Amino acid sequence: MTSTEKVDLRGAAATLLMTLYMRRQDARSRRPILGDPWAEPVWEHIEHDVHGLWQLTGDVSAIVCRAATLDGWTREFLADEPTGQVLHLGCGLDSRPLRVGVPSTCRWVDVDQPEVMAVRRRLYDLPGNSEQISGAVTDDDGWSAVDPTLPTLLVAEGLFMYVPAEAVHATVDRVVSGTPAATLAFDAVAPWTVRA
Ligand SMILES: C[S@@+](CC[C@H](N)C(=O)[O-])C[C@H]1O[C@@H](n2cnc3c(N)ncnc32)[C@H](O)[C@@H]1O
Repeated sequence: MTSTEKVDLRGAAATLLMTLYMRRQDARSRRPILGDPWAEPVWEHIEHDVHGLWQLTGDVSAIVCRAATLDGWTREFLADEPTGQVLHLGCGLDSRPLRVGVPSTCRWVDVDQPEVMAVRRRLYDLPGNSEQISGAVTDDDGWSAVDPTLPTLLVAEGLFMYVPAEAVHATVDRVVSGTPAATLAFDAVAPWTVRA
């Protein structure tokens, strides 16, 4: 991991700091739910205006339960399909590929916007069998990297609420038409929560 670096993320990209902050709060708690060992060291290497993040304290349990649930589904997939592929859409600065222990036989693809992937590559030592794709989930480039012959899990945590509805539908359509055996694991929220 590099030394401390200033991170200037705007818009939806900046929301990754919220989830990272909450995983770190959980990891520091007396009885962690997710217990992400990477949250604290990654957080410590980021210089960012974190003003107001303390207001998320009440959401920590819900957010880390969400992450733990998606980790569980991911581990189940890896156990069932050790030679499959996982697309980690809108991965932000999440340590999921490290937490779940990706088998060397599995293909793991992290996808997020270019400014996020640049930071992710610098802050994490990611598994050698993982790939990083810079781009929006709506771009064709990322989708051309999908191997349509492999059993596939797409994990999209905290993503679809920041993407226009038609792009969510397009993503689902691509999964259905582009992969013969795919599972999409995602979370959704009521529309007003994004504004809040
Ligand atoms: C709330 S963060 C969640 C990050 C990570 N999944 C986590 O749980 O910590 C939302 C993430 O979605 C990414 N994102 C938003 N719109 C996107 C898009 N159209 N394509 C790819 N990533 C996107 C942002 O850059 C950000 O990293």
